[in-house]
Amino acid sequence: MRKIVIAGNWKMYKTQAETQEFLRGFLPNLEETPENREVVLCPPFTDLSVLSKTLHGSLIQLGAQNIHWEEYGAYTGEISGPMLTESGVRFVIVGHSERRQYFGETDATVNLRLRTAQRFGLTPILCVGETKQQRDAGETESLIALQLDKGLVDIDQNNLVIAYEPIWAIGTGDTCEVAEANRIIGLIRSQLTNPNVSIQYGGSVKPNNIDEIMAQPEIDGVLVGGASLEAESFARIVNFKP
Ligand code: G3H
Repeated sequence: MRKIVIAGNWKMYKTQAETQEFLRGFLPNLEETPENREVVLCPPFTDLSVLSKTLHGSLIQLGAQNIHWEEYGAYTGEISGPMLTESGVRFVIVGHSERRQYFGETDATVNLRLRTAQRFGLTPILCVGETKQQRDAGETESLIALQLDKGLVDIDQNNLVIAYEPIWAIGTGDTCEVAEANRIIGLIRSQLTNPNVSIQYGGSVKPNNIDEIMAQPEIDGVLVGGASLEAESFARIVNFKP
């Protein structure tokens, strides 16, 4: 059975004090998480210790937003697998479009990071998706096929989550039509060797569209940016009723 994975990507938002404030609003609003549902928070690295202390023993898992492929070394600004696992991290986002766009991430470096995440026992969340220009040019399917092809070389599909994030829907309020997101996620699944990989949708997920998104048969969860920063709205998303 495919697991539902609801993840919040805080990107470069929230100090430790703001994280404490978030938890005060978020935790009391959480309903009991159904057995098949995984809830993950991916904060900036500096918030990991605050969150791991508070969330220890809770059903909420910690995720990171990046991982370097070396175990240690002279890689200024990067972070390693052992550093993340020691901080209580279980998931790591890899290949987010913002990393591809602003930090030179390529399918080759995405693949290295995915392999390393798995080597250290982390579950990677691989992000794929097209720009508006690529969509308009009819390149969505071929681009995603390529991202999967190159990204998944030698990757164990038993320990993997994929997030389909159309770049034009990120932070714009312009959600992809749910039927279209469902279609693309179905195509992604058809390219995998393991049909049980959980595949999320990401891009302007909000409390008012979560039910419709999660009603789609191919969609196994969401990767939430903006709406995960506000305690009540993220609690509403996490608590969605199937
Ligand atoms: O990782 C999350 C995505 O980039 C979606 O962000 O929910 O603010 O559109 P958003």
